[in-house]
Amino acid sequence: MTGKTLTIAIDGPAGAGKGTLARRLADHYRLNLLDTGLTYRAVAHALLQYGLPLDNVAAAETAARQVNLGELDRTVLSAHAVGEAASKVAVIPTVRRILVEKQRAFASTPPGAVLDGRDIGTVVCPEARIKLYVTARADVRARRRLAEIEAMGGQAEFETILADIEGRDARDMGREDSPLRPAPDAHLLDTSEMAIETAFLAAKSIIDGVLQPRNTA
Ligand code: DC
Repeated sequence: MTGKTLTIAIDGPAGAGKGTLARRLADHYRLNLLDTGLTYRAVAHALLQYGLPLDNVAAAETAARQVNLGELDRTVLSAHAVGEAASKVAVIPTVRRILVEKQRAFASTPPGAVLDGRDIGTVVCPEARIKLYVTARADVRARRRLAEIEAMGGQAEFETILADIEGRDARDMGREDSPLRPAPDAHLLDTSEMAIETAFLAAKSIIDGVLQPRNTA
């Protein structure tokens, strides 16, 4: 981060509400917005499209180089299966390095950005002025995911979604390169019992506290 840019780093597990929160905060503080999960999803989607195995390192690297942050199509990339596949290509260190470079360039463009993902506060933008670690219980996250799928006209079993979420947590937290974990200086926000508006207000109060510290003199 430079004096001219503000970075808000938001990390946390799948389905914790990071995406909606990031969008609200980017609107409120007039910052650019990057859902870094979409970059890993774009790599996974390219491999799936060509019928290539998700551990094909050379193909995944090529796909990562071709990721254009301005052309990430949320409609195509938001499919549940693409998220599962993304979590698998995300263990490849060279893929991470290629995507992290693009994410850093985005973050350093004035006026700054809200980035959400798994390793923003720890690896992508360790200098971010504000770091939030947003989490929620796995059963709450599974219920939210199910509601999203049903809202888009899809169908799924709660137990299957819960198992996928737990598997994804294990992969995202257990991988060797850039595992999901809160940065030591991250503010923790558990949204299990919060509606989105409440989570937004809680985050805003944390951020305003950092940006405009009260004069204690
Ligand atoms: O946030 P999401 O569900 O769209 O992310 C999909 C997968 O991408 C996630 O399970 C792990 C990976 N990911 C990552 O490793 N690092 C990030 N900064 C963002 C996502």
